[in-house]
Amino acid sequence: MEYIKWNEGLSVDNEMIDNQHKELFRLINDFYHGIVSKKGKKAMVEVIDRLEKYMHEHFNFEEFKMKMANYPELDAHMKEHKEFIDKVSDFRTRFEEGRLLLSLEITSFVKEWITNHIRISDKKYIEYI
Ligand SMILES: [Fe+2]
Repeated sequence: MEYIKWNEGLSVDNEMIDNQHKELFRLINDFYHGIVSKKGKKAMVEVIDRLEKYMHEHFNFEEFKMKMANYPELDAHMKEHKEFIDKVSDFRTRFEEGRLLLSLEITSFVKEWITNHIRISDKKYIEYI
């Protein structure tokens, strides 16, 4: 079962970016399955690692495309990316230090954020890039 599923309604009319979003969804599904199947700390840190790494690559790519296109809302968009990166990195630190239990609330936050971000903010750059 897929916890988060990409659909055409989330397309930003750019194949590369759509593929990156699909890959992000795959990693979020891994994260979800890791929590549900109660994977150990080491395995979960690896899952978060992959998610964070891919998120950085993807956000950098989007930001590069927006910069090249002189996208007028670049700053606001970058701010959204940064806030999310900080949030995930905070989850990770607290989890590693044993101050946070990974929960379905966290997966649901990640899922909601990414879906809303694509639906609202990413779709705004379509006509520019
Ligand atoms: Fe974005």
